[in-house]
Amino acid sequence: MKEKLLEVNNLVKHFTSGSQAVKAVDGLTFDIYRGETLGLVGESGCGKSTTGRLTLRLLEPTAGSIRYRGEDVLGFSSGQMKKIRRDMQIIFQDPYSSLDPRKSIGEIIMRPMVVHGVGNNRRERFERVTHLMEKVGLDPRWYHRYPHELDGGRRQRVGIARALALNPTYIVCDEPVSALDVSVQAQVINLMQDLQEEYHLTYLFISHDLSVVKHVSNRIAVMYLGEIVELAASDELFQNPQHPYTKALLSAVPVPSLDNRRERVILQGDVPSPKNPPSGCRFHTRCPFAVENCRTEAPRLQETEQDHHVACHLIAK
Ligand SMILES: Nc1ncnc2c1ncn2[C@@H]1O[C@H](COP(=O)(O)OP(=O)(O)OP(=O)(O)O)[C@@H](O)[C@H]1O
Ligand SMILES: [Mg+2]
Repeated sequence: MKEKLLEVNNLVKHFTSGSQAVKAVDGLTFDIYRGETLGLVGESGCGKSTTGRLTLRLLEPTAGSIRYRGEDVLGFSSGQMKKIRRDMQIIFQDPYSSLDPRKSIGEIIMRPMVVHGVGNNRRERFERVTHLMEKVGLDPRWYHRYPHELDGGRRQRVGIARALALNPTYIVCDEPVSALDVSVQAQVINLMQDLQEEYHLTYLFISHDLSVVKHVSNRIAVMYLGEIVELAASDELFQNPQHPYTKALLSAVPVPSLDNRRERVILQGDVPSPKNPPSGCRFHTRCPFAVENCRTEAPRLQETEQDHHVACHLIAK
């Protein structure tokens, strides 16, 4: 039986910007199972990072519920939250700006242990830091080096070691390889996969790069303008995409085999503003198949085939 680690229901986040609300996340419902990687894809600004931060309660939602290990985290006191934070971590896109340039690598990795009182003394913490450095492929002799002395891939390894310092269960990986050279991306992804297996980690893996997401994810959620339009197992999504937006996204991914070559779907127009999203189906202004109903009525995310969810009037049962 698959264990639900995280259960998200009707999650909403509206930011206030001037007099208008930015509808960054608008009614997301999904689960993340223990030990899996859930990929989250979509164009820039569709709400991926906001979603990741909401699941960690680094942002307060406008509405909705989040259960972690069956518990309603939004009802937690700050003391309870501090405890649970040890179990939930984040790896950021930019290893350059997410590491304090004035701290040594060892101090950066040790910091969460100091904050959360892990380890009985400095010696114990030092040993754990050097152990973690070895685990992520950093020479422990670099303990006293500074972030600027490392290349991008190694800096991201520091970010990963820091995320592992408290022995977490759930890690939000927000575009963890997007800033890295392609050759280094594969190494960091392999490392993250090895660590996932060894420590039985659960990942929410955010990326705009579908080929990366396909490679790492068990299931994939596709977002458009603050909503999930399709959610399915990774292979199923690539072999049998249903939503016109997913089809358009997939058609832009290079396919190695000629037999599999998909017809390229070019989407018309820009992504509308989340301050004023289109009525009905948010995708209707760019959808080549939109009918009248799509302009007025928002489609719900429905299970159209087993474990395959789609929000589209044309595909609904
Ligand atoms: N603190 C904030 N205040 C106001 N608007 C915000 C804030 N954070 C995010 N937004 C807006 O919310 C929307 C979703 O942003 P988010 O960063 O979640 O998107 P994203 O999918 O992660 O994009 P990217 O791929 O560029 O990282 C965007 O329109 C963004 O401008
Ligand atoms: Mg983002």
